[in-house]
Amino acid sequence: MSKEIKLRALTGDRPTGKLHLGHFVGSLQNRLVLQDTHEQYVMIADVQGLSANAQDPQKIKDNIYEVALDYLAVGLDPQKTTIFVQSMIPEIAELTIYFLNLVTVSRLGQNPTVKTEMKEKGFDTSVPAGFYMHPINQAADILAFQARVVPAGEDQSPMIEQTNEIVEKFNRLYGPVFEKVSMLASHTPRLMGIDGKAKMSKSLGNAIYLSDSKHDIEKKVMEMYTDPEHIKATDPGHVEGNVVFSYLDVFDPRHEEVAALKEQYRTGGLGDVTIKKRLIEVLETIIAPIREKRETYAKDPAQVMRMLEEGTKRAREVAAQTMAQVKNAIGINYFS
Ligand code: TRP
Repeated sequence: MSKEIKLRALTGDRPTGKLHLGHFVGSLQNRLVLQDTHEQYVMIADVQGLSANAQDPQKIKDNIYEVALDYLAVGLDPQKTTIFVQSMIPEIAELTIYFLNLVTVSRLGQNPTVKTEMKEKGFDTSVPAGFYMHPINQAADILAFQARVVPAGEDQSPMIEQTNEIVEKFNRLYGPVFEKVSMLASHTPRLMGIDGKAKMSKSLGNAIYLSDSKHDIEKKVMEMYTDPEHIKATDPGHVEGNVVFSYLDVFDPRHEEVAALKEQYRTGGLGDVTIKKRLIEVLETIIAPIREKRETYAKDPAQVMRMLEEGTKRAREVAAQTMAQVKNAIGINYFS
């Protein structure tokens, strides 16, 4: 009987904060599917996190644990998914060094994700080199595992493009070691923040976390941006750009009822509080079981760290195999 060969999938998150609903619809849901269909690796990208937080390693350290809890709470199963910590795999750093030679500085400067984040972080004139080159480090994350599929949000597609350019250049110079990588984008368009800004993000302070209490959810939904011209319930209102409706579109499974509510909101006669109460119930239904599971795992932090340690050990074996292939291909195995 032939053993079923599964393609490898790899993705990761920077441990700069707890995970939120944007991560959930952008990538976590896909990972729950991939853990059954693929050989899946999920990385806590602390090296990448440090590239913009060198002054605050404690924050990164604390959030490695928080992100691990979020993974377990949403249902990533360490028996199926290898969950690991990036900095504990020195092969990734090593591979990054060789990849750095395959990318020009000007090419790095064109990466739209890096450009946007540099602006957000106020790095315009003083960007750390480690941050500037993080797309190359990310290519090494993916290729150290020879992953073929990367489940990620649309904002990561420039990273995949960069990775594939490295694949091409490496193979051309040193022989065929790597295969092209494809991104598995989420079906859901990017989730806006509770303030109506295009992106939900911790740094923008507009996120609903997977660990939020019911009270947090109530407070955040009540603050949500709707339609500034919809003052009285009887006023006709806008549904487009209305955060409450855009969340109902994503999270409320009763699509026909949502369509009817939209119609009523447009004509007038539906108050913001009514739709917000509905959204609170919908979000609480999704988050309550995640929160409960999270609390259970949080009772035994040592067990969570042990799970990470075991995953990291497994991951390191795979990365070491790739590194041996890379050194052979380049011909830098002088002493063996
Ligand atoms: N850049 C990703 C983010 O900000 C995190 C990440 C690091 C990643 N390494 C990766 C994602 C490898 C996919 C594959 O969310």
